[in-house]
Amino acid sequence: MTNSTGPADDQLSDRLRALRGGLRPTPVVPLRGDGLDLFAKLEYCNVNGSTKDRAALWILQQAVARGDVHTGTTVVESSSGNFAISLASYAVALGVRFVPVIDPFCNRGTEAHLRTLCPVVEKVTEPDGAGGYLRTRLARTAELITGDPAAYWPNQYRNADAAEAHYRFTGGELCEALPRLDYLFVGVGTGGTIAGLSHRVKEAFPGCAVIAVDAVGSAIFGAPAAPRRIPGLGSGIVPPLVGDALIDDVVLVPEPDAVAGCLELLGTHGVFAGGSTGSVYHAIRHFFSVSPVPRRMPTVAFLAADRGHAYAETVYNPAWVSTLHTGEPFPAAA
Ligand SMILES: Cc1ncc(COP(=O)(O)O)c(C=O)c1O
Repeated sequence: MTNSTGPADDQLSDRLRALRGGLRPTPVVPLRGDGLDLFAKLEYCNVNGSTKDRAALWILQQAVARGDVHTGTTVVESSSGNFAISLASYAVALGVRFVPVIDPFCNRGTEAHLRTLCPVVEKVTEPDGAGGYLRTRLARTAELITGDPAAYWPNQYRNADAAEAHYRFTGGELCEALPRLDYLFVGVGTGGTIAGLSHRVKEAFPGCAVIAVDAVGSAIFGAPAAPRRIPGLGSGIVPPLVGDALIDDVVLVPEPDAVAGCLELLGTHGVFAGGSTGSVYHAIRHFFSVSPVPRRMPTVAFLAADRGHAYAETVYNPAWVSTLHTGEPFPAAA
């Protein structure tokens, strides 16, 4: 992961400080909760449109401070899309080269965005036998950095700075915005978000339950891996960062229910969010429909991790959604 080659690059440090100085907290908005005091933290209002933005900037800032990234470094990273968009944007702002390693489940718009920002985009095509392409992406990333002394791999699946970013920023802002919190629902991919947020909210609100939301077909919480198509949640491996999280319960959401969650979130609240947010919203509805309702109306929060636009051809496209039920491949994802 590290390729430390000396002291911090002052020019990059200054640019990163300036970029971070420009950041503002994302909104925490109340939604009509139907028995819940429900809040969404709109992470899609981050500069590069997703919850991954805080982690990307903080990881780069820490890597520069340690001397792992300097002018002349090539950053290489495996991503389902959002982390790559944030790294690509910050790499451009810093004048550093970035090579994203993506797969066929990356949204088409996200891939097009990456191709305009990055001279080289590595797209793996070999399924990994664990329901997706993650292991293939990680193997390709390892190959690309091997023997290249100018390469730096943030490795979001193992990088504790990702959790630290969510502890400090996402979590700090959420705790500041709410007077109380009984339940926090968090989608899990690499585990960085839940590792950071769970510690922060339990420090501020010791009675708060943290509910992890994962996709059916993901191996993160011990179920057998199976094909999944919506990027963001789930993994074919158990990411080490998940072991650092404080998790009270887990809800697994089938992909058709993630779509139903997106449509309900849009139709009921006007929130146009991506597939992982639909999963989390569906998990909240399901959780409180089967659990005993607490006597006092509970305060519940979740992140709207990214916007729906990138999912126009998939989650919001009935032709694509019908293939989730039949299991047929869809041309856009082929
Ligand atoms: C849209 C979206 N939601 C949720 C997640 C999960 O976050 P984490 O990787 O921190 O577990 C991701 C991760 O890429 C994501 O892109």
